[in-house]
Amino acid sequence: LAAGKGVVVAATEEEALEAVADLMEGGRVGTAGQKLVIEDYLQGVEISVLSAVSVTKEAVESGTAAIVPFLPARDHKRLNDGAKGPNTGGMGAVCPLSDVTDDIMAQFNKECLEPTLKGMIAEGFDYRGFIFFGVMLTKDGPKLLEYNVRLGDPETQAVLPLMDFDFVEMCEAIVNCTLKNFEFSWKKGFQVAPVVVSGGYPGAYPKGKPIVIAEKAVEASGAKIFIAGARYDRRTGGGGLVTNGGRVLACSAFGKTFDEAWKNAYRAVSAVSFEGAFYRKDIGLPGAAESGQL
Ligand code: GLY
Repeated sequence: LAAGKGVVVAATEEEALEAVADLMEGGRVGTAGQKLVIEDYLQGVEISVLSAVSVTKEAVESGTAAIVPFLPARDHKRLNDGAKGPNTGGMGAVCPLSDVTDDIMAQFNKECLEPTLKGMIAEGFDYRGFIFFGVMLTKDGPKLLEYNVRLGDPETQAVLPLMDFDFVEMCEAIVNCTLKNFEFSWKKGFQVAPVVVSGGYPGAYPKGKPIVIAEKAVEASGAKIFIAGARYDRRTGGGGLVTNGGRVLACSAFGKTFDEAWKNAYRAVSAVSFEGAFYRKDIGLPGAAESGQL
């Protein structure tokens, strides 16, 4: 409604009052400024928790309604290393997170996930699918920022490869409301998934640049390449794959340790080339997560 211009993060009461006046009286975003939502100022680092959800009338009656969280993941939204530069649709993801302890997840379950399930039940939701919890880890624990009714990009590329169960069987459990009996087991290790983008993204960028993937090197890294902003153009010769978007592909690799996963992922990234290709070199490393305020 406010074309993305309606959020003000106020550090002081004075700034908050100024923002209210600007929006409600100054008309900075037109009629969208007539109704405001005021929330706590949250400081910390963000995490994403994807989850499987079955809430139906029958499931509630039979006690099988459930939301099951996946392993916590983190997206890196800024374009440049060190969480600098403009916001993007996501420059890479990592899963799980060494700064998210079991205690933090237990607190998340109690304070974010369980109230969500209760709320959905109270409001009579009929929903089977996924919910993405966007969460800020603050010094007072995890605080919910947002829901998305979907999986997340690029978190999905880092979370799903760690599933040590069959994705389709899990989808069946969601549909049949049998999540409580479904065994969620996760591979022990880490997944790192840097995204390779077109030069110029998130501003204007060229399309149609031939993509070369050194398949043997990718195979040696064990990485999976998830292609997004690309298409086939047979006129180019070679494999025919050309860029067709800002976020062209993600290289997602596993490792028993974070370092191993990181090395494997970047080995795969080095095996991908197209004119203007750009990527962050610090996905998952200390200092890579944006800290501070939402
Ligand atoms: N990576 C953030 C999102 O999918 O919304």
